[in-house]
Amino acid sequence: MALQAATTLDLTGQVAIVTGAAQGLGRAMAAELATAGASVVLADVQAAKVTEACETLAADGLAVSALVLDITDSAAVADSFQATVGSLGRLDVVVNNAGLGQQLDRISDLSDDEWGRVIAVTLTGTFYCCRAAAAIMEQQESGTIINISSINGQNPAALAAAYNVAKAGVISLTRTLALEMAAYGVRVNAVCPGPVYTDFNRSVMRQRSESLGIGEEEMIERVRGAVPLGRWGEPEDIARMVGWLASPAAGWMTGEIVRVSGGLEGVSAAPPKRSRTGD
Ligand SMILES: NC(=O)c1ccc[n+]([C@@H]2O[C@H](COP(=O)([O-])OP(=O)(O)OC[C@H]3O[C@@H](n4cnc5c(N)ncnc54)[C@H](O)[C@@H]3O)[C@@H](O)[C@H]2O)c1
Repeated sequence: MALQAATTLDLTGQVAIVTGAAQGLGRAMAAELATAGASVVLADVQAAKVTEACETLAADGLAVSALVLDITDSAAVADSFQATVGSLGRLDVVVNNAGLGQQLDRISDLSDDEWGRVIAVTLTGTFYCCRAAAAIMEQQESGTIINISSINGQNPAALAAAYNVAKAGVISLTRTLALEMAAYGVRVNAVCPGPVYTDFNRSVMRQRSESLGIGEEEMIERVRGAVPLGRWGEPEDIARMVGWLASPAAGWMTGEIVRVSGGLEGVSAAPPKRSRTGD
């Protein structure tokens, strides 16, 4: 039998939630899923920004709605995911994209507060969303969850221990949940983006250039030069993979960790030895 040609992305009739969708990668993911025909709930803690993102996509004729949600609020996550099923009838796709970078610091100087702040959103919030989605999808016996990790989750960068650990945790969470949900036909995969110049990475580049004692422009160029495909990523590079993983084209994939990074495996960025007081 001849293989069928690949079709364009069609998610007509599907209901999706994308967290952290007010800006950056999440906003592009929401646009990708909605353009493919899904009804998309854009969830974010930034009320004004998520409303504005939603209005912009709706003006293009896309079926979107805004949800103000802090993913560190376990009860609010469970309630709002259930409310989505109540209002839209089902839940087919959940993209756990919301995450925080950290203030760069050596582990020896990393504060309890900064460790806790990053883990609470980037790992624990992702867990709350995975749990709420899994409970609904187990009942439905269908659905797919896509978690956004990072190349840092596979290959840690210096000075970002809390973030690296949170993203490595997201990979483990993904693989564990994939096993637990397989009997229900629910697929769970993760995407590890490489560098994309969003607000998130603007802050990282500023801090990294300071830590290495070089200019910000030089740092941006250094990262670009390290990417085998020779350019920074665009939000759409990541969004297209999310759309594809959500689609039936990925119907036999679960527990996979997919790197989308122009071939970049990680940024080690070891800082120089610091001078001791009195040197
Ligand atoms: N940009 C990159 O280069 C890059 C690389 C690898 C991984 N990632 C990951 O991709 C995801 C998106 O990154 P981005 O660059 O678009 O970041 P971003 O900072 O531009 O956007 C993140 C969004 O998450 C939202 N958010 C933060 N805390 C939240 C909370 N508690 N509840 C709900 N929403 C919350 C923010 O309001 C924001 O809209 C993150 O998980 C990030 O770690 C990004």
